[in-house]
Amino acid sequence: MSSNILIIGATGNIGKELVKLLVKNGENIRVMARPTSNTKELNALGVDLFNGDMGDTDSLKGAMNGIDKVFFATPLVPNMVQLSSNIIDAAKDCGVSHLIKISGAGAESEGITLTKWHRAIEKEMEQSGMAYTFLRPNSFMQNYANYSSHTIIDHGAFYAPMGEGQAAFIDARDIANVAYHVITDEGHQNKAYYLSGPKALSNYEIADILSSVTGKMIRYVDVPANDARQSMLTTGMPEIIVDAKMELYQINKLGYASEVSFTVEQITGHKANSFEVFANYYKGVFIK
Ligand SMILES: NC(=O)c1ccc[n+]([C@@H]2O[C@H](COP(=O)([O-])OP(=O)(O)OC[C@H]3O[C@@H](n4cnc5c(N)ncnc54)[C@H](OP(=O)(O)O)[C@@H]3O)[C@@H](O)[C@H]2O)c1
Repeated sequence: MSSNILIIGATGNIGKELVKLLVKNGENIRVMARPTSNTKELNALGVDLFNGDMGDTDSLKGAMNGIDKVFFATPLVPNMVQLSSNIIDAAKDCGVSHLIKISGAGAESEGITLTKWHRAIEKEMEQSGMAYTFLRPNSFMQNYANYSSHTIIDHGAFYAPMGEGQAAFIDARDIANVAYHVITDEGHQNKAYYLSGPKALSNYEIADILSSVTGKMIRYVDVPANDARQSMLTTGMPEIIVDAKMELYQINKLGYASEVSFTVEQITGHKANSFEVFANYYKGVFIK
């Protein structure tokens, strides 16, 4: 029997792709979005749209009325754990049976700020009495489209304090596909999945792929950690988030995020997208 599914974070990297898959396959879904969210794509899909906010428990309960399964991806903000607690509490009150969370690679290690935050949320889910699934992805390929495309377009370069470190970047569309199967297939309750792309790559290798796919010279510039930190601070990003991101860069620089897993293929039946596939699909974002 088809379940009633709520998607929270439906305009995000993963959520928007997940919604498309669920709609295409005729699943019974509702999406929650803020009144300020750009819901043009969601409206075009004709989904049941509920106005709510992760910071407002009453709105979360309203969105979860009659819902069996909740997928959520929280933004990377200083109160990420609190926002997630609100979702877990509301789900418990509303009789939700299964919660699916976008976590992060290495959450089980609790080694850095972000993995500590993700693991704190996971623990709360484990103790909630509801079934849970944790998707623990490596860094997204989409980060290059979201954060580096403006300098690539402007002067053909992108900047990061990652040295020659390699990481097994994943296409967010593959994470969405895994989430789709976790939601609609049996056997994924109370599981945690580390998700990666098919190959670990350095930023130098990524620059080569982007150059080859776009037909224009794109360079990677390895920047000192302190310069990267200052540059993020000048964008107005909260210091706690800047420092959390710096820890992640260090992990990537040291090659600790280079492990390749085949979980995407095992769960979806399709090989995880290579960086070349990602770059070809998003090519327009990197060219004027
Ligand atoms: N990027 C990476 O490399 C990476 C790697 C591993 C794990 N992760 C984890 O992935 C998660 C983010 O997933 P994502 O990239 O798919 O999401 P995202 O693109 O950052 O989007 C966040 C979503 O949350 C919504 N949102 C933000 N604040 C909200 C609020 N107060 N109430 C309701 N909705 C709100 C946003 O809606 P609006 O349209 O209104 O803004 C958007 O739909 C984070 O937890 C991060 O730690 C990321």
